[in-house]
Amino acid sequence: MDRQTATTVSALQPPAEGASPAFDRTAPVRAVLAGIGAYLPLNLVTNEALAERVDTSDAWIRERTGIRQRYLAAPHETCAYMATAAARAALADAGAVGSDVDAIILGTSTPDQAFPSTATRVQAELGAGGFAFDLSAACSGFVYALSVADAMLRTGQARGCLVIGSEVFSRIMNWQDRGTCVLFGDGAGAVFLRAAPGLAGPQTPGILSTRLHSDGRLGDILYVDGSVGRPDRPGHLVMNGREVFRHAVHLLAGAVAEVLADNGLTAADVDWLIPHQANARIIEGVSRRLGLPAERVVITVDRHANTSAASIPLALAEAYADGRIRRGQLVLLEALGGGLTWGSALVRM
Ligand code: UT7
Repeated sequence: MDRQTATTVSALQPPAEGASPAFDRTAPVRAVLAGIGAYLPLNLVTNEALAERVDTSDAWIRERTGIRQRYLAAPHETCAYMATAAARAALADAGAVGSDVDAIILGTSTPDQAFPSTATRVQAELGAGGFAFDLSAACSGFVYALSVADAMLRTGQARGCLVIGSEVFSRIMNWQDRGTCVLFGDGAGAVFLRAAPGLAGPQTPGILSTRLHSDGRLGDILYVDGSVGRPDRPGHLVMNGREVFRHAVHLLAGAVAEVLADNGLTAADVDWLIPHQANARIIEGVSRRLGLPAERVVITVDRHANTSAASIPLALAEAYADGRIRRGQLVLLEALGGGLTWGSALVRM
């Protein structure tokens, strides 16, 4: 989406209007996506503009990745600032307010501080209750956070949960490394989940299932070589792109096959694939394996670049805002990132 349309999307109400104040914990509960919102920074940087300060070209970046531009955060556009803006938009979309929120799970690798968590900063801004925490799973952060939120809503630990992906990767870029600095952008996306009792089966709304994976043996192919705990070395992103690429398609294809099988569904049932937006070639590889035509895949990597944990909710928000994704449709999410971490989620809107 363009920045101007990023902050609000059309209203999407859950089928049952929220959870009753004291629903039966033994009855099945679904996490329904009640609202969606996003935020993109003000500063749009094209490949051509980047090529003025980095030894690269628009042609190379487009050919290898599909990226044309990215948004880069100004100093005031911190992880918490963007997360709060996206969260407000998601709440507005759901017709909810801060006091309806009793959990915030924020996927990020670029928090404002080691602690308190960025999620608690957002909680204060929104006047939300309950609890809030950050979750670290790199580019898989949103899918991981969605999975944790789903489990918490199903078990009655929360009834209204914000799941946010917010990233300022521009702050951890090595701007001397043209192999990585051209690939990433900043932004945030959020969904507001409501616990809705009495829903079952793959045709009713909500998160149908999620699958998470990680393989720590592959930790050194994509990492940050420092930390917020080391003021002498806050750290830059380091990536062996070829190695990540080599693992991406088959691991992602495996994860999406799992969530479909969990629900007795096939790729033919999927209305939209919303992949993590790292590289157009990886996205094509996964959709080809699934047999999904390009018209059913949401692509934002060309305009947003790789926004890590924010990429899926940003793409989801865009496809809602422009009316492509509609209520009742089946949406498949997948992501892979540093760790390696990867996972998938299947959602009936
Ligand atoms: O979200 C986290 C998950 N991450 C990913 O999914 C990333 C997966 N990997 C990739 O998308 C690709 O590996 C990249 C897009 C990162 C790189 O594409 P590649 O085809 O693997 O290129 P490469 O790194 O092997 O570099 C090929 C050439 C090299 O030149 P020589 O040695 O062949 O002369 C690089 O120096 O391209 C050169 N190069 C560039 N040239 C212009 C590398 N970066 C650039 C650049 N501009 N920005």
